[in-house]
Amino acid sequence: MFKVIIVENYEELSKAAFEVMKDYLKPGKVLGLATGSSPVGLYKNMIKDHIQNKTSYKDIITFNLDEYVGLPKDHKESYYTFMHEQLFNHVDIKEENIHIPSGLGDLEANCKAYDEAIEKCPVDIQLLGIGSNGHIGFNEPGTPFTLGTHVTDLKESTRKDNARFFDPLGEEVPYQACTMGLATIMKAKNILLVANGENKAKAVKGMLEGEVSEDLPASILQNHPNVTVVIDKAASTLLEKKY
Ligand code: GLP
Repeated sequence: MFKVIIVENYEELSKAAFEVMKDYLKPGKVLGLATGSSPVGLYKNMIKDHIQNKTSYKDIITFNLDEYVGLPKDHKESYYTFMHEQLFNHVDIKEENIHIPSGLGDLEANCKAYDEAIEKCPVDIQLLGIGSNGHIGFNEPGTPFTLGTHVTDLKESTRKDNARFFDPLGEEVPYQACTMGLATIMKAKNILLVANGENKAKAVKGMLEGEVSEDLPASILQNHPNVTVVIDKAASTLLEKKY
């Protein structure tokens, strides 16, 4: 079941997403978090709320969706670094309450342990962006809906989308990532997906109005009971239904 909120621009999107998220910024809640540029404005609103309203993250637990394989935590483009720079360093969350898949060491054992940790601590709200090819987390088109956390090969289109971050470092985008699977994501009690810009319009259309198919991983969300989608006008241009 989708609740779709269409707003004018990115600033409004970030505020609307915060209005949904703020109900979960309470002791004991478990947040599933995402990287990418789409949630950055929401994270800014969360930081502002922490500073102005003293909302505390001391008893909040987080699980991130994914991490590149082969990047150490302190790599400038690791999702560990991204999350600390964009959110964790600016709020009072305890480091031991932060979970991000590790892309180093025994990957299979890491993935299994990650799913076990989520099993013990079910996610109350999972935040998602969406890739231009409809991926969520790093579940690329063709990923079986049944997978838990796993290692995956990145599609060339995704590596191209993300090259803007690695090119200035003179480095290649990693070829693999460790990601929560679609079965893991679907276990979250609530889902909040944010998407902006016209390069997301096709993926958004497929997710909301296309058939449920592994060719467009986000379409699995049609089977989830509680999904809020916040998009800007540009990402909504191909939609045919009224929301
Ligand atoms: C990456 C992340 C996804 C994210 C996507 C879109 O591939 N693994 O979680 O949704 O990028 O990123 P952006 O929000 O920058 O468009």
